[in-house]
Amino acid sequence: MKLTRLDDKEAVATHAAHAVAEAIAATSAPFHLALAGGTTPERCHRLLAPLVSDWSHVHLWISDERAVGPEDPDSNWKMVRESLVSAITIPAENLHRPLGEAGADVAATGYDAEIRAVVPAGDGGLPRFDLIMAGMGPDGHTLSLFPGHAEVDLTDVLVASLHDSPKPPPDRITFTLPLVYAAPRVMLLVAGADKADALSRVLAGPDRATPASLLDGAGTLEVVADAAAAPA
Ligand code: 6PG
Repeated sequence: MKLTRLDDKEAVATHAAHAVAEAIAATSAPFHLALAGGTTPERCHRLLAPLVSDWSHVHLWISDERAVGPEDPDSNWKMVRESLVSAITIPAENLHRPLGEAGADVAATGYDAEIRAVVPAGDGGLPRFDLIMAGMGPDGHTLSLFPGHAEVDLTDVLVASLHDSPKPPPDRITFTLPLVYAAPRVMLLVAGADKADALSRVLAGPDRATPASLLDGAGTLEVVADAAAAPA
């Protein structure tokens, strides 16, 4: 695990935007980028848009979504569209969103299949995203993997549905940990004093009660945190 500690949320978003832009610019091969929900990722997207001159080889996905349509205020994809897609030129076929309006179960099954069909498999045989972005809630949840919920332990699907999210809305779609572990790079953006307790548990090592701590299962996690979340 690598920790980068910065002054504030704006610095976290800026650092992440530049890191993502550099990774995209470093290759002309298809680059599969899984974006995250949350206000820190949203700011990151806005800063990222002008940093990348060529998006034609980039495929955008979302690691966590609510089972709602793309126009719903709860839709993470709506946020992605408004904060990033609307500001860039990218082929429509490079945009990959779960069909939340079809319900969580159908959306998760369909997204799982789309990922398997489009994202090339890595050495372990699972689709290998080039970079997976994630956020964290004050309870230590990440993606839509919540403490004490069964999705944390799933190994037979790449994308899970849930109907009992403790944070509304209850119906959601989320990447599972095996998909996270197949990626060479996972970036967790954390800002705010309300995340300090959960972040200290993440930094202490794997703990099933703090799902964000499990993101580092393959040793690929980069945590970018502000000073309020990561006191010295
Ligand atoms: C959700 C949110 C949530 C978010 C964290 C961090 O699905 O309910 O997206 O998981 O990622 O609360 O968000 P901030 O970046 O806004 O702190």
